[in-house]
This record gives sequence, structure tokens and C-alpha cells, in this order.
Amino acid sequence: MKTTDQNDLDKKIQNSKEILRLKSKDYDKNFKNIENYIKNEVKIIETENKKGNSIIPQIYFKDLDTNSDDIINKIMNRGCVIIRNVFEEKKMNHWNTQLENYINENNYYDHQKEKAGIDQYFSDLKSGKPQIFGLYWSKTQVEIRQSIELDKVKKWLNKLWNYKNKDENIFDPNRELVYADRVRRREPGDSTLGLSPHCDAGSVERWIDKGYQKVYNDIFMDNFEKYNPFNALNRDQTKEIESPAVSHVFRTFQGWVALTRQGPRDGTLQLIPIAKSIAYILTRALLLDVPENELCGSKPARALSVNSKYHSLLLKALTSIPEMKPGDTVWWHPDVIHAVEDNHFGENYSNVVYVGSTPYCKKNLEYSKKQSEKFLLGESPPDFAPENYEVNFKNRAKLDDLTELGKKQLSLMSW
Ligand SMILES: [Fe+2]
Repeated sequence: MKTTDQNDLDKKIQNSKEILRLKSKDYDKNFKNIENYIKNEVKIIETENKKGNSIIPQIYFKDLDTNSDDIINKIMNRGCVIIRNVFEEKKMNHWNTQLENYINENNYYDHQKEKAGIDQYFSDLKSGKPQIFGLYWSKTQVEIRQSIELDKVKKWLNKLWNYKNKDENIFDPNRELVYADRVRRREPGDSTLGLSPHCDAGSVERWIDKGYQKVYNDIFMDNFEKYNPFNALNRDQTKEIESPAVSHVFRTFQGWVALTRQGPRDGTLQLIPIAKSIAYILTRALLLDVPENELCGSKPARALSVNSKYHSLLLKALTSIPEMKPGDTVWWHPDVIHAVEDNHFGENYSNVVYVGSTPYCKKNLEYSKKQSEKFLLGESPPDFAPENYEVNFKNRAKLDDLTELGKKQLSLMSW
């Protein structure tokens, strides 16, 4: 989708609001119904948080095949899950050191200074620029992505979705097309590099794009109770506004692997653990106190904004994830609001490798083919600002470093 012209965008927003309001018998009442559900969920989350209980479901890698329906229901209700002990600590320590060496031997910090300002995606999130590295092809990242452990985890996560439409697969849960993303390495004491609450995978598109309108149809049509965030139908049909740093893939989950130990207050991830919270954001924007050409602060080519002016109810449920050990992983649904704590009060680096789950489907395959060209050149992947730090980096992962699975995941060998 191309829409960079402000007038054009204003018109699209106004038209979409008209269409979306007409889907409901009473859009005001529809919002109130959703708001009541969210109020109740927020109360549950606040109560559990006060008691010191973790509201975010947690399971162990070794139990993946034997989880109860009860925990599965919790994961689908919360839209997130921590899967622990996916990798051994020793392996993680090796990967963490390997990544640190890669950064140091290639003088990453000097290169970054030269290219400051190329990445504009998060520039509206008021916490400032995050301590996220524009690195995609280190051996550490590539080895983690092509590991058999993550392969197992992602297949399991994908199968939480309803991925069939009649007899056809909307995506194949057993084949992964990896999505090369960055790393976060946060220095102890850092206080400037947080990320305020947001959603990825499109901002204004969630209202104006025809694919997204279909995804969220039940929400707008007074059928909130029926809305299933894990129904893949039409999720592969969305069209994002052309812009660097906006995700153009369909991820069943976003996620990361912890390279180091990190707890709450160590500059870690925060989630609003309500899978259906997007319904509140979508219907809130249709109310008449929001200017007709605005969507509660969301801007094109930026992350979806969640803010205190319009979404203070949701923000009460913002929860820091519990302590993570090296080799633990956390996963969240693409509609789940997330943030990174403003302050790192801890004493050690809190480091993670981002690893979304991007199963095989037409949309992801198209991206994957473009991404593989970038891999071979060592350039930044198509979704990210073209900083291209790694082109001449020593010890970058190359074709020879890929396993058979790794080649298939990068569309360099057919599945
Ligand atoms: Fe994000």
C-alpha cells in the first residue's frame, strides 16, 4: 500500500471510519461492551500483579508435548507465553560471548555513529532510541534461528492458531521461513533507551487496509465475543504501507531468546497480556471525541501508538515479564501491546536475540526470497533501515554456515 500524502491519508481514515461505524448497529455501545471486557481483564491482571503472581503463562520446553488444556487456554487468553529452558545455559553463554566479539572486532559502535538517524521507525516513541543493534547475520543469530530447538518451539506455537480454511492451509505450521531481526544489548544503568508501549505489523493499516478490516470484522460487527485472535484467515492478506522498518511478514508470534539473565527492573520486556486488547484500540478510535482524520495517535510508517490520552485503561495492565534465565524464551501475539522498561537498574547486560515465528505462506515466502538476497550480501533485511553494517564484517554467517534446515528457512533450498 502506498500512502505518503497527508491529504490522501486523511481521506482514507475518514472513509474507513464511516465504513467501520456502519458495520455496527451502535458503535458506541459496541465500544462499551469491549471496554467492559477489558476492564474485567485489567482488574484480574492488577490483582495478580499485586499478589506477586505472574499473569504471563509459563511452560517448560521439555513439557511442550504434554501441556494441559488449561494452560493452552491461558496462553490463548493472554496472547503470550514464556517457554523456559529451550537452550542450555552453557550454550547461551557461548553465543553471548560470540556476539560480543562480533560487535567488538568489527567496531560496531563507530559504524553506528556514522549512520545515526537512518532508522526512523521508533522516532515517535518518546522513550528515545533503544539500545538495539542493527545486526542480523551474526553467527549467534543464525545458529539460534536454525536450531532444532526453536524449530520445535515454533511448530508448537504455530499450531495454537487456526491455520486451515476449509481444506486448505492458510499457512503451514511445520515449515518455518525465518525472519531476520536484530539484537538488544542493554547496558546496566541505562535510562534513555526504553521503548514506549506499541504494536508492530502496521499502525493506521489496522483500520484502513481491506485485509485488516476483514481480520477484525467480528470486532466491528458487534461480535466481539466471537472474535478469535488466533484465526489466521486474512492475516496473510494484509497490505502494509511501504516504509523501512515496518514488518511485511505474518508472524504468528513475536519473540526473543534471552542471552543473559534479566528480571523486572533490568530494562526488560513489558506486555499487556490480553490477546483481544486490539479490539479496544480499534473501536476507541471510532468515538466522536477523536478528530475524524486521526486514529488515537497512530501514524503511518510508525509503530501503532498506545498512549495515556486514549488508552489509559489498557496501560494499567502493562506488566514486566518475570525473571528470565539464559536460554528462556518469551513469545507474544502480533496484536499484543509491548514495551521495554525505561530504566535498567540491574548490574549486568540484559541481552536478547529477536526471533519471530514466520510460517510458510505466500506472504512470508515473497518476503523470504527478498531477504535471502540480503543475507548473501550481508545487507540489512528488506523490512529494516538499510544501514548495511555487516557487509564487510569479519565472521559474519555465510552460506556455508547454514544447515539444511537453515537453507530451507531462508528460501535458499526448497522445502
Ligand atoms: Fe515491537
